[in-house]
Amino acid sequence: MTFYSRVIGTGGYLPEEVRTNEQISQTVDTSDSWIYERTGIKSRRIAGPNETASSMAEIAARQAIEAGACDPEEIDLIIVATGTPDRIYPSTGCLLQQRLRIKNCVAFDIQAACSGSIFALSIADQYIKSGIAKKVLVIGSEICSRVVDWTDRGTCILFGDGAGAVLLSASDEMGILSTHIHSDGEYESLLYCPNPQAATEANKQEAGYINMRGNEVFKVAVNTLGRIVDETLAANNMDKSEVDWLVPHQANTRIIEATAKKLKMSMDQVVMTLENQGNTSSASVLLAFNEAVRDKRIQRGHVVLLEAFGAGFTWGSALIKY
Ligand code: ACO
Repeated sequence: MTFYSRVIGTGGYLPEEVRTNEQISQTVDTSDSWIYERTGIKSRRIAGPNETASSMAEIAARQAIEAGACDPEEIDLIIVATGTPDRIYPSTGCLLQQRLRIKNCVAFDIQAACSGSIFALSIADQYIKSGIAKKVLVIGSEICSRVVDWTDRGTCILFGDGAGAVLLSASDEMGILSTHIHSDGEYESLLYCPNPQAATEANKQEAGYINMRGNEVFKVAVNTLGRIVDETLAANNMDKSEVDWLVPHQANTRIIEATAKKLKMSMDQVVMTLENQGNTSSASVLLAFNEAVRDKRIQRGHVVLLEAFGAGFTWGSALIKY
């Protein structure tokens, strides 16, 4: 029997502290108008000193578990997408498993930068479709503020913190229709975050902060996301008009508008959280999805296209009949 991976619960968490463009423009040479016009961002959330990727993941996960009316012991697999893990090991997945007090499940992390939650959804879907797992918790959780150089105006304006979650269950009703994930390691130099503890002699001077050649990343992102839309629709033999919602990775309004245009979609059909959250990397797609499910824009039966692009480069999509 073939199972679908059906979304039975969603969750999200944003830290309390709001950091506005005005506040950032007091410490680096930028302005609210420059940031807003180029990116669509007005403010982002910043995690408190005692928060971590696993503590934020726990709050988002508990919401998804409650929404799915699921006993945590039923969960077979936890996949956490993060580029900002609490520790190199144990994985944030294992730390989340500990926090949720689940004894009998498998937990691990995956790292695909901003595409992480799409990669995690894709892995989860394979486990469910093959019958290996029945309930899978997928989380994207990031403390970007700790890997951002707050003196670099090219990057510090972009990122924020938060966690998003979905709980998937094996079902004979439709759910995830397809996932498509890709990587191209040739682009390391355009977007990377060093790990100073693992540095070689040659790169030991590098601090552990995000480095990005934004303009070049921008161009590749627009083209690549256009291609993933075509690939996803073709694989499902579906027309643009059949997609009800676009839930994009929240990196830049102009990138998102280009994808919406490709789909001939009005921006009313695009879930946007960028303005007050910034780019929360692997958390962003699941945070946006959770928001639109909870405010009832996304309804049962709607077709939703989730997509993301990030360092690697990595990119991917998940087409879901919610
Ligand atoms: N305030 C004012 N001026 C700035 C700022 C700033 N915060 N940042 C850069 N500038 C200046 C530059 O120095 C440059 O000045 P110059 O012309 O005198 O040299 C000028 O503004 C234009 O710079 P660009 O980098 O060309 O600006 P651009 O229009 O490309 O916008 C941005 C920059 C917002 C970063 C954009 O390129 C972008 O969004 N890129 C994509 C980011 C993305 O999608 N990343 C992938 C996901 S992230 C991940 O995986 C971790």
